[in-house]
Amino acid sequence: MTRFIKQKIDDTPIADNVFAVVSLAKKAKAELGNDKVIDATIGALYDEEGELVAFQSVYQPYNRIKNNEKATYAQSFSGNADYRKQVYNWIKQDINLDLCHSVIATPGGSGAVSTTMSDILDEGQSVVLPEIAWGSYKLMATMNNLKAKTYSLFKDGRFHIESFREVCLSVMEEQGKLLVVVNDPCHNPTGYSLSKSEWEAVIEILNTCGEQGPVILLNDIAYIDFSYDFKQSRAYLETFNQISDNVMIVVAFSSSKTLTAYGLRCGAAVILAKSAANVRQVEIVMEKSARAIWSNIPNAAMENFVYVTSEGLEPYMGEKDYFVSLLEQRSKIFTEEAAIVGLKHYPYKEGFFVTLEVCDANFKDKFHKACMEEQIYTVQVNKGIRVALCSLNIEKTRGLAKKMKIIMDRIS
Ligand SMILES: Cc1ncc(COP(=O)(O)O)c(C=O)c1O
Repeated sequence: MTRFIKQKIDDTPIADNVFAVVSLAKKAKAELGNDKVIDATIGALYDEEGELVAFQSVYQPYNRIKNNEKATYAQSFSGNADYRKQVYNWIKQDINLDLCHSVIATPGGSGAVSTTMSDILDEGQSVVLPEIAWGSYKLMATMNNLKAKTYSLFKDGRFHIESFREVCLSVMEEQGKLLVVVNDPCHNPTGYSLSKSEWEAVIEILNTCGEQGPVILLNDIAYIDFSYDFKQSRAYLETFNQISDNVMIVVAFSSSKTLTAYGLRCGAAVILAKSAANVRQVEIVMEKSARAIWSNIPNAAMENFVYVTSEGLEPYMGEKDYFVSLLEQRSKIFTEEAAIVGLKHYPYKEGFFVTLEVCDANFKDKFHKACMEEQIYTVQVNKGIRVALCSLNIEKTRGLAKKMKIIMDRIS
């Protein structure tokens, strides 16, 4: 076969285990009816009637935007000025951030994560990822010819700080530079959020690594606005003020997730560091990457984010709070019932997913299949089974932990 693609690129097809199970669940629903199937595969917010949530407070103002404003290019490749300012204010809320900053508009949180990986590391270097994580991190690393090293996430029900330290230090020693991803708060897929003291420990480790060379923390906050306590969700940002001169933080924000607008690609990379010159250097490179890859972000998506999070804030927060509390109810039911029946899951605090702890790969596969035979559809992740509570209504959530535990015991 003639090879038309470049030499150094992985051409094995995407192993999308989510897509395959999603279609099986769809087929089951078509054949047996919605009521008979528990579809916990979908990673987006659904209402109690089983419809994808699209906030009125987001789409009413969006639909009022004039056609020619939707049609026009953005003001610049780094995004509209008011959007960049508003993203920064939205992320930090009333937290006092004593760092230099810049914001680059990106196509969703994905754009921010991907541009950071490709602009920060050279081919062949390693990016440090959580062991259980959103699958796209690894794909982004591979597409940029980066290697991935992983840190264990939990020990005794808390963030595994020793593993984080060990892996960061060893990569630092190996390559004299560190890019590490922390997906927090509302980690996908476990629903863990680090405490402020855990964040303090993370920053201390990054500063220690920084004594040997440049350190970049990629803090992926895709789900931050679905935290159970909006005000508290930003408190950890204060720990960022303690970074040393050799540490930089890129916060990957997803306006698409915050506004329930997954297909309206909009997000941002927020660059934070002690020195303005360092921030400017990364800003220049990210702006050029934007120009070279996606050019610009939909003008109307940026305009709408600014409107919804300022003038339209009250209805937006009201609507969002309603769904966040629904998510909280679903997760409370699931985790409380799991505790009663002894169904083990990773430490969960908040967010879209709960992940059952299933470390043995063969057993995980068997369990996943056995659940599907009982019309319970979930997604396999590394060392676990992801249950997407975001897309399950309360009725279907009730009793689910027990059903899964019975299946697990039966095949054990
Ligand atoms: C952990 C995590 N980060 C980032 C993203 C990117 O989201 P988007 O590009 O849709 O904004 C996702 C999407 O599922 C995610 O789960």
